[in-house]
Amino acid sequence: MAAESGKIARSNDRGSPRRTTSARSARQRPVDPQAAVAVESARALQAWFNTPGNARALPWRDRPAGERDAYVVLVAEAMLQQTQVSRIADRLPKFLARFPTVSRLAAASQDDVLAEWSGLGYYRRARNLHAAARMVVDSHGGELPNDVESLRSLPGVGRYTAGAIASLAFDKHEPIVDGNVARVLLRLHGKKAASDDRAAQAWLWEQSTNLVRAAKRPGVVNEAIMELGATVCLPAPAAPRCERCPLASLCVARAQGTTARIPTVKSRSARKALYASTLLVRRRDGALLVEQRPGGGMWSCMWQAVTVERHDRHATAHELSVETGTRIAADTPDERFIHRTTHRDVHFEVWTGVPGRAKSPRPRRGEWVDPRRLSELALSNAQRRILFRDAGLFHELGPLSPRPR
Ligand code: ADE
Repeated sequence: MAAESGKIARSNDRGSPRRTTSARSARQRPVDPQAAVAVESARALQAWFNTPGNARALPWRDRPAGERDAYVVLVAEAMLQQTQVSRIADRLPKFLARFPTVSRLAAASQDDVLAEWSGLGYYRRARNLHAAARMVVDSHGGELPNDVESLRSLPGVGRYTAGAIASLAFDKHEPIVDGNVARVLLRLHGKKAASDDRAAQAWLWEQSTNLVRAAKRPGVVNEAIMELGATVCLPAPAAPRCERCPLASLCVARAQGTTARIPTVKSRSARKALYASTLLVRRRDGALLVEQRPGGGMWSCMWQAVTVERHDRHATAHELSVETGTRIAADTPDERFIHRTTHRDVHFEVWTGVPGRAKSPRPRRGEWVDPRRLSELALSNAQRRILFRDAGLFHELGPLSPRPR
């Protein structure tokens, strides 16, 4: 911490804008320079967020941060993990229209919840959300708890989400750290570390705690720093919009010209490969052959065109034909593409199968579905790409892969 303070002092010495609270008397000023930065930052963030035109108008921002419906915060945060805000803008209201309360979500079937989540990817979030709603009904009388310990006992609710709910719904002085917040804090203090580095994480939670404790409106300050990270303090290779940043005068990375190198990049382990051979079979009446994946593992319980997976190579056309009991129309696949998930590169080959002669031949695997019903099924983005294209329903296909915010 002392080293960080030293950097701040040096940057100020070099003539960059000052970090101290010059307008206030020395007696009012907090003694600890870190605490002073927290107080100044919290004030600047709150003023910035409350100034019209700075924060985006998002569907869950209809009520001030600190006074929101905790269920709405829970659903929004579940959707926002891994998915861009722009994609949530219409999906969140749609989800809430279908499941308007925690008890309505708890009472729904998993298939219905997954179908409503379809296309957003990372389906574990939807399963956890559903399980969390059931736990809220069973163990908390249908009301989301307001303390972080109880919140963290809910499936899928980690430290960040618990802090977000406690602050955005109940205006509690609870910290939050996600990728956006981490970037702002690392740059603000000029700390050269990767956002997800273990040691840096402890430091980040400490900084976020200092910030939120210094806040008059903890919900607003937490949402402001999230928003700043998402819209102003942009990650490389984009240039941060420092000229629009309320923390610019306090920012060590800006003073030192190191914003492009903070956060540092942690090397990632290679994703594993999976080889998926998908068979598209369309019956004369237009029905498509689909099957439900088993529970557990990737895309658990979701629907797909009949698919054979291998870890070392693709199944040959012959193997695919034998395993599915279906004749294959051509010697080569119709399409090849790679679908990337967090942990895997899934190499798809898409084949066309020839349905039997009878009107309703009993397939060895899967069942026939009317293509107009596809949008009711929980489908991964990869399977949407395959099935919707074949069904000629391209117009119903939203943007494919959700990208991080
Ligand atoms: N408001 C609530 N959660 C948010 C998030 N994750 N990013 C931006 N603004 C938010």
